[in-house]
Amino acid sequence: MEMKKESRITESEDKARLAILELAHMMSVPMSLVAVIKMKVPEAIWEGGSNTPLSARQILHRIRPQGGGDADNLERILRMLTSYDIFAEHFSESGERKYSLTYIGKTLVPDSQGLSYAPYMLQHHQEELMRAWQLVGETVEDSTTEPFKKANGEGVLSYYDRRADARDLLGEAMQGMSIPFMREMLEQYDGFEGVETLVDVGGNTGVCLRMIMSKFPSVRIGINFDLPHSLVSASKIPGVTHVGGCAFEFVPQGDAIFMKCLGRKKAINDLTKA
Ligand SMILES: C[S@@+](CC[C@H](N)C(=O)[O-])C[C@H]1O[C@@H](n2cnc3c(N)ncnc32)[C@H](O)[C@@H]1O
Repeated sequence: MEMKKESRITESEDKARLAILELAHMMSVPMSLVAVIKMKVPEAIWEGGSNTPLSARQILHRIRPQGGGDADNLERILRMLTSYDIFAEHFSESGERKYSLTYIGKTLVPDSQGLSYAPYMLQHHQEELMRAWQLVGETVEDSTTEPFKKANGEGVLSYYDRRADARDLLGEAMQGMSIPFMREMLEQYDGFEGVETLVDVGGNTGVCLRMIMSKFPSVRIGINFDLPHSLVSASKIPGVTHVGGCAFEFVPQGDAIFMKCLGRKKAINDLTKA
């Protein structure tokens, strides 16, 4: 009997199959990252700068000193995140796997100012936002109502208005991301020289304005302009007035306007319609 000629896949097809499988399981990466952040695994390994490689069992002992927990499952999570360069894997002489933090993993540990990227990760993966992501296709099928509202029964604006915990998380997330960014930016950029009144549109807690004003004394008046609910927990900053309002209705007068991470116009319009 004549054998059928075996069909061989090309190297590109082979890579494509692997790539699509990786994408199919992609959800496991952010979910595992959220889990280790919530369990404070990065802090347990870092432990004030030691970053000594630890086994899953040793990490578990640090995060659950009262005992309990499943070290094997923790190790599975650590191994998976190691393949995304969050942790580095080391082998002890007995062959035991141990984990330290990479530079990426270290971004999740609060620095001397208490800042890290962990709240940014948690903010983007809170339950209500995840529910809305499941409906992302609806933005094409039926764009009359934003996915967040369809998924949660209320608009994103009303959600943040009602939930002080979500507002605080957003504030923390933005500070953890914006303070290091602004520090770098202000070392290079001198465009605020000579500006007296600066309006930060969508300034949230006003942290960017505070940093700009401490570097450029010419900026004597800072106006932190944001949606009223975002300003509820904004603390006092010398020289800064917090002004509540929607940028699509008015923007306070100033010599210059600063905008950072405000999103696309359409998205902001949708927000304000919610
Ligand atoms: C991602 S945060 C950015 C905060 C800050 N600019 C930073 O980079 O750290 C976006 C901010 O824009 C504000 N925002 C959204 N829509 C707005 C609007 N229509 N008018 C004024 N502020 C708005 C939000 O309340 C939020 O504080």
